[in-house]
Amino acid sequence: MRCTALAIALLVAFGWTPAPGAALGADDLIYGYECSNGVCRKVELSEENFARAISLPVCRLFCGSNIGTLWPKPTGAVQLEPLTRQVDVATIQFHLAGVDKKDKLWQATEQRWLDLLEAKIPNRKSLKEGGYQLNIVLNTADNGVPARLQLDTDESYELNIGSNSAGQITANITAVNFFGARHGLETLNQLIVYDDIRREIQVAANASISDAPVYKWRGLLLDTSRNYFSVKAIKRTLDGMAMVKLNTFHWHITDSHSFPLEVSKRPELAKLGAYTPSKVYTHSDVADIVEYGRVRGIRVMPEFDSPAHVGEGWQHKNMTACFNAQPWNKYCVEPPCGQLDPTVDGMYDVLEDIFSDMFKLHNPDVFHMGGDEVSVACWNSSPSIRNWMTQRGWGLSEADFMRLWGHYQTEALSRVDRVANGSHTPIILWTSTLTNEPYIDDYLNPLRYIIQIWTTGNDKVIKKILKRGYRIIVSNYDALYLDCGGGGWVTDGNNWCSPYIGWQKVYQNNLTKIAGDYEHHVLGAEAAIWSEQIDEYTLDNRFWPRASALAERLWSNPSEGWRQAESRLLLHRERLVENGIGAEALQPQWCLQNENECPVDAYTQRSDGLWLASQLGLLLVGVLICACNKLHMKVCE
Ligand SMILES: *[C@@H]1O[C@H](CO)[C@@H](O)[C@H](O)[C@H]1NC(C)=O
Ligand SMILES: *[C@@H]1O[C@H](CO)[C@@H](O)[C@H](O)[C@H]1NC(C)=O
Ligand SMILES: *[C@@H]1O[C@H](CO)[C@@H](O)[C@H](O)[C@H]1NC(C)=O
Ligand SMILES: *[C@@H]1O[C@H](CO)[C@@H](O)[C@H](O)[C@H]1NC(C)=O
Ligand SMILES: *[C@@H]1O[C@H](CO)[C@@H](O)[C@H](O)[C@H]1NC(C)=O
Repeated sequence: MRCTALAIALLVAFGWTPAPGAALGADDLIYGYECSNGVCRKVELSEENFARAISLPVCRLFCGSNIGTLWPKPTGAVQLEPLTRQVDVATIQFHLAGVDKKDKLWQATEQRWLDLLEAKIPNRKSLKEGGYQLNIVLNTADNGVPARLQLDTDESYELNIGSNSAGQITANITAVNFFGARHGLETLNQLIVYDDIRREIQVAANASISDAPVYKWRGLLLDTSRNYFSVKAIKRTLDGMAMVKLNTFHWHITDSHSFPLEVSKRPELAKLGAYTPSKVYTHSDVADIVEYGRVRGIRVMPEFDSPAHVGEGWQHKNMTACFNAQPWNKYCVEPPCGQLDPTVDGMYDVLEDIFSDMFKLHNPDVFHMGGDEVSVACWNSSPSIRNWMTQRGWGLSEADFMRLWGHYQTEALSRVDRVANGSHTPIILWTSTLTNEPYIDDYLNPLRYIIQIWTTGNDKVIKKILKRGYRIIVSNYDALYLDCGGGGWVTDGNNWCSPYIGWQKVYQNNLTKIAGDYEHHVLGAEAAIWSEQIDEYTLDNRFWPRASALAERLWSNPSEGWRQAESRLLLHRERLVENGIGAEALQPQWCLQNENECPVDAYTQRSDGLWLASQLGLLLVGVLICACNKLHMKVCE
């Protein structure tokens, strides 16, 4: 305490005075930024530097990086000249070549873009008037065609920004289709920042970017069965995804815990299966979510997980085995247990009704049939299943139960094909015993099935699957299960896949390494939130900003590691928060404001000598204290 007082006294004695903030004309603003040696330095505002200092987001747009603060970083050529112009937010215009202005897809896209802009402005009333008129020109080839994202959709775009002396800025976006154009708009939005010193919106006014994703499947999985999530929370997730160009929302709608989905021909499923009557996704909810995703360039892909992971909702049908059997750990991996009984013919009719609604509402280009964690012990506990098998001359070995599963999968798939009017929609299944040798060759056609990997990234099974020609989606739990970490819920201690996975590990998850020679069969990856211990109140900070780390790995697959991305991610996290997403804080705000002062490697590189000296000093003090304690030396008192 006394020391601080002394330091201040000394500073004042040497002529330091507190900055006269108000006199500068920016109420309460004490600090601004200056770019120096490629780093944005925080400076106290003074009469002398006021004209030169800028806000942090403006500084970071050009300082020390050729891609500004874009997240994810573009994969093609980027030219970003250090020129900003004030934007007149009242006169922004969209020009859509050949597109019906009333088309609701484009209208919603325009509105979303303006909302993102609005979120940057802390106080509309004190925003300085004037500036350049911004014209946003969108050129796409497939104008007017109802847009649906598919596996072969070209998501590339080009963005050119220029200004003229007549006070106009043109942002020209060219793309093959709506999806690329939409990504271009997202990038443009990230090149627009608020300068809190001048109180104006500024745009990077001389830029040209060409961009396309490395992986075509860039997803997040949300499980809405273990805990329910409101439509609003799901939309918030889609908002975050759109900001980082993630394109697949994998909706794990149902599980054994609850059945929160309205099925028109089988109302009893949701009636018996939902946690409460209000925790049901009605048809209009689903349609709303699917459209909300489409506007944001996102396919909302439904999963109906079966034959395991079913239970609640299926009561009174006599179509399940081992429902809520105890002790549960004999029959399944978590309570409550439950599996469909493949031997009950009428069960496939119920499936068809579920699939039918899912296909009508989602029009999926790829469909997920689950196939997760089937328990042989569960089926084996049912006398009627055992009878059915032995009547056919089958045994009761693992291979026989895999044959039963194969029978289920074939029957269920024929119902999927029926509701899809005979079009052979690609099917995703989770890795399981069925995707292991030898069963995978017996029951799963590599031309039809895509396998979603959830084992660890170095599991040998991955290459065995790949070498057979299956395409894969990677969700290795050791890097992409974002629910890992936290207390246990069926035991004490920590949950099964602890510890918590840091964003750095997500960023470093290397699909090239995971797939080896078969990289061309990797469609992409998904990060997952299994929701046993997460609901809508704790959702955002689980996904964000770690999902952004995945987004950059998948869109850009940068050759650099997390360390090079760190300071950009800190700023991107602020962007998420600005848009109402409760993203987790990664570091003290001090580190955002004092770029490169926190990472330990930056410190040791810069001042190895100092560090060594301080360590030696500490050692000396340690030795002294030690000696004092031992010898009760006079000098110590
Ligand atoms: C926008 O870019 C396209 C394609 O590069 C070009 O044909 C067009 O003239 C540009 N429009 C404007 C207004 O710059
Ligand atoms: C934009 O930058 C390029 C160089 O990359 C330069 O040739 C051009 O004159 C700049 N345009 C404006 C309007 O500043
Ligand atoms: C349930 O199904 C099994 C075999 O499929 C049958 O033996 C049993 O009688 C059924 N029970 C009821 C209550 O329908
Ligand atoms: C299948 O065809 C029927 C009748 O033409 C139609 O109502 C339904 O929407 C179609 N389903 C799909 C998924 O295309
Ligand atoms: C990913 O792994 C591949 C192959 O092992 C390697 O060449 C590449 O440098 C790695 N990428 C990153 C970002 O570490």
